[in-house]
Amino acid sequence: MATSKTIGAIIFLITLVASSIAAKNAKTKPLAPAILIFGDSSVDTGNNNYLADANFKANHIPYGVDLPGKAASGRFSNGKLYCDIVASKLHIKELVPPFLQPNLSDTEIITGVNFASAGSGFDDQTVILTNAIPVSHQPTMLKSYITRLKGIVGEKKAMEIINGAIVMVSAGTNDFILNYYDLRTRIEDYPKVSDYQNFVLENLEKFVKELYSLGCRKMSVGGLSPIGCLPIQISAKQSIGMSRRCIKSENKDAVLYNRKLQKLLPAIEASLPGSKILYANVYDPMMDMIKHPARYGFKETKTGCCGSGGGLSDTCDSQAKLCSNHSEYMFFDSIHPSLATYTHLAGSAYSTLSKLLDA
Ligand SMILES: *[C@@H]1O[C@H](CO)[C@@H](O)[C@H](O)[C@H]1NC(C)=O
Ligand SMILES: *[C@@H]1O[C@H](CO)[C@@H](O)[C@H](O)[C@H]1NC(C)=O
Repeated sequence: MATSKTIGAIIFLITLVASSIAAKNAKTKPLAPAILIFGDSSVDTGNNNYLADANFKANHIPYGVDLPGKAASGRFSNGKLYCDIVASKLHIKELVPPFLQPNLSDTEIITGVNFASAGSGFDDQTVILTNAIPVSHQPTMLKSYITRLKGIVGEKKAMEIINGAIVMVSAGTNDFILNYYDLRTRIEDYPKVSDYQNFVLENLEKFVKELYSLGCRKMSVGGLSPIGCLPIQISAKQSIGMSRRCIKSENKDAVLYNRKLQKLLPAIEASLPGSKILYANVYDPMMDMIKHPARYGFKETKTGCCGSGGGLSDTCDSQAKLCSNHSEYMFFDSIHPSLATYTHLAGSAYSTLSKLLDA
């Protein structure tokens, strides 16, 4: 009797432990095999650190002050970027490493890397000014990544990983800021912003099709942010003595570009069998933060936490003034969102990406 009772209790305990382990696995099991990221500084987690000539590098404090270890990593913000937060929500990993990091482990390769480069754009001319890796070159990096992945897991498994990977693309802002609004190097080629938008979108289409040809199937492509509300743009157009306000015309252009992108993506998807290509809206979530800052705990949306938030020459370096509460600022420097903003953006990005999961 006593023995069978004991056995019963042991079986009960084993079942309890087993089911709690199963529950834990269900909660932490990766929702996709890997994450692959392409674009500009909005998603560059440190590739530019390894480019000798790149003009934009966030490899110094105060960038990264709110990362574990408080160390600058190359991310243009005080903490994680929204692509890192999304990777974490997908239970893939906490930080998505830059592909150019020389000591990447096999595990990091298998679960995905980042090919983005700060100062990049869909227009190859954008990198003449920044020495970043143009978006058009990032598929070449993906090719060498795939070669390495095949070496680790074999050809078949490697293609399963690429086919199932969540792909995030985020670029475009630099094309308009550098070539169109502030330095105006493309004005002669494209006198109307609408024509320049079409040119940028043609390049975007070529890029997405190239990713598909290499095996990517589940993609989210970000639209433009409210460019006219970036602190750097506000400063560029601010008249002396006037209060800081968003540049309406630049926001209007961004809305038009985003509308075109939202039409283009389903057309690309329809032309690529087995693909799922979604639009990721960053414009509306960011406009909501600007219109209703208190809802997000923001006290300041028009200057950056680091630096004066001002003009083109205003840099966020170790000498720059830093706000005391980073979470009260929508922007960390004069261009890039703060961790608080990225945390909110990751929420909306994730709801888009979750539609890719069962595709
Ligand atoms: C790899 O290099 C990075 C950047 O230099 C460093 O932070 C990290 O600790 C290194 N990781 C390993 C496993 O050596
Ligand atoms: C910093 O700001 C955030 C967001 O407004 C707020 O929740 C937090 O309490 C603030 N922290 C301090 C130390 O004041």
